[in-house]
Amino acid sequence: MAERTVRIALVGLGNLGRRFASILAEKHQALRDAYGIDLRLVGAVDSRGVAEAAVGLDPAKVAEIKAAGGTAAEYPGCGRKGVSALEFVQVVDADILCEASPVHLDAGGEPGLSCIRTALSRGLHVVTPNKGPIVLAHAELTALAAKHGVCLRFDGTVAGGLPAINLGARDLRGARIERIEAVPNLVTGLVLDLLATGVGWDAAIERVREEGILEADPDWDLDGWDAAAKLVILANAVLGVPARLEDVRREGIRGVSLERAQRAAKRGERLRLVALARLGADGGYTLRVAPQALRPDHPLGNLKAKAMGIVYETDIYGTITASIEEETPVPSAATMLRDLLDILLD
Ligand SMILES: NC(=O)c1ccc[n+]([C@@H]2O[C@H](COP(=O)([O-])OP(=O)(O)OC[C@H]3O[C@@H](n4cnc5c(N)ncnc54)[C@H](OP(=O)(O)O)[C@@H]3O)[C@@H](O)[C@H]2O)c1
Repeated sequence: MAERTVRIALVGLGNLGRRFASILAEKHQALRDAYGIDLRLVGAVDSRGVAEAAVGLDPAKVAEIKAAGGTAAEYPGCGRKGVSALEFVQVVDADILCEASPVHLDAGGEPGLSCIRTALSRGLHVVTPNKGPIVLAHAELTALAAKHGVCLRFDGTVAGGLPAINLGARDLRGARIERIEAVPNLVTGLVLDLLATGVGWDAAIERVREEGILEADPDWDLDGWDAAAKLVILANAVLGVPARLEDVRREGIRGVSLERAQRAAKRGERLRLVALARLGADGGYTLRVAPQALRPDHPLGNLKAKAMGIVYETDIYGTITASIEEETPVPSAATMLRDLLDILLD
């Protein structure tokens, strides 16, 4: 089999980025054997600097440096301190950008948005699990990708490792999607389950913080912004509706009392933050995020604490449910490989 080398530039080496580097190391030979693809990490950048090597970095070494709290700039012989993500993307000689920096909606989706714009304009494919740029600029970025003849994939932006977008955008083609109901956020499910077992609000937040999955700004999860962002992405990418965050009627979980959570548990119901898109008689979709008690016979009524799921109701493919239990960020990190292979093998 003829082999082709694919040069990867990686922005963001946190929970996801460094795990993606580990996946590249672990899967390198298997991907060569199966598809004749030699994935080569030619550069990686974090908030403090960059490591670059045209012959390829050792992704396991990058992951090791980051797991120990270091920076890419410390990579032996190839590191430079103080190089920004955008400076790196402007010049890197690569085929694909994997962008895994923080969401930063309040900072206009930066640095992710500029990095993605620049990469697409330079003719690089882009994969990203970063919701910020997609929520803010889905139409612009998809048009930019088309203009430059490259692909933009972001399957990891909704419900971690669950292929929620792919399922809707690819496998339901030809259908009228009448309803999407999703539990796309881990943090709120965990908090609600703790409340249901009688753990108070403050202790529940502390427990989730200890798990390392609470964002630096807890409002993002607890006030439903994260779920609303994911619903906006589903609306744009799956339903073809150019929705924005302000189009979502949003209620977070802060108003849920211990009593309400315990009452639901006694009835055998799972209280979850549900993101809903419903097709109306006028042909438009209403978008809503709110806590909801899901009965055991609901398709998402038996989700475990660290699980997320989605239900698509369609006119011709029936009702399809998918869910994922995500104990670690590995499945979310792996979405970058899924997206990348989707681009390379299509
Ligand atoms: N964690 C999950 O389970 C999960 C699931 C699905 C999607 N996502 C999305 O994936 C993205 C990454 O998440 P994460 O959990 O890996 O985040 P994270 O642990 O906070 O890591 C963010 C990485 O980006 C780097 N960074 C921050 N600001 C930067 C800047 N201005 N320039 C260059 N690099 C910068 C950080 O550098 P330092 O290492 O130097 O701090 C770090 O390496 C986010 O958009 C998140 O919403 C995460």
